[in-house]
Amino acid sequence: MIPRTAGVEASVFPDLYRGPFSKEEAGSRYADMVKETIDFNTPGKVAAMLSEPIQGAGGVYPLPTDFMPKVVPHVRAAEGLLISDEVQTGFGKLGSHYWGTDYLGYKADIITMAKHLGNGFPMGAVATSKEIASSPNKMIGSTYGGNPVAMATGREVLRVIDDEKLQERTAANSKILLKGLNEIKDRYECVGDVRGQGLLVGVEIVKDKESKEPDFEMYNDIHENMKDYGLLVGKGGRYEKMNVYRLQPPMCINEQDVEFLLDVMERSIQDAMRDRQK
Ligand SMILES: Cc1ncc(COP(=O)(O)O)c(C=O)c1O
Repeated sequence: MIPRTAGVEASVFPDLYRGPFSKEEAGSRYADMVKETIDFNTPGKVAAMLSEPIQGAGGVYPLPTDFMPKVVPHVRAAEGLLISDEVQTGFGKLGSHYWGTDYLGYKADIITMAKHLGNGFPMGAVATSKEIASSPNKMIGSTYGGNPVAMATGREVLRVIDDEKLQERTAANSKILLKGLNEIKDRYECVGDVRGQGLLVGVEIVKDKESKEPDFEMYNDIHENMKDYGLLVGKGGRYEKMNVYRLQPPMCINEQDVEFLLDVMERSIQDAMRDRQK
């Protein structure tokens, strides 16, 4: 257990897979819960609300697409800023949009970013308005902040994303990936859900589609098989043990890489099922 940080309140996790609400009503109902959280768990004023456009490590849970536009007025009424954590979603990774905030249809006051910006080079950045950046209370700084090597790396990565049209490439590869994964889901009872956007995709392993009960053992077996076939896949999920594969390949992958991924995933499921029957 990790103790809660004082002064930070969490609202209810918008879960379109196991949550009680239909896709149509989920955005409004979960937005109402943010208001309840502000009304009952805070003094009525908040510094900011921080959210990921798609929960990454939590198990690749996309927010309902009408959720944030409905949340924004509640946060504004409490005088709060909006912070979008785009460490996993930014720079075109969603294919359809460059930023998760555009995908969700709202404007954040602060965007935090890392990973893709450096393409492996350790760097992160915060983008905000001049007004917020020049606030007298600002405390942003670090020993290596703004170092010239990181700046040159980040600039070059941004150039490559644009010049090589990696966002468009991500959208095209994502179509193939999601189509293939949904077909795999239809063929195997243990694949409970395929969800995500662009090249940020989650595949959830369950005992059966009806109960949606997580199958941690099957999940680990398939994961090991994928590793043996030469495919390293990230782990995630909302349970202590994990049961969601996080498929977040780099944006430079090609169609053959996607076909390889699909082929390996299907073989790995089949092998794990065969081993169970032994
Ligand atoms: C969504 C998200 N936010 C923040 C972080 C932390 O990033 P950093 O290690 O660059 O501080 C991570 C790291 O995995 C992340 O996935």
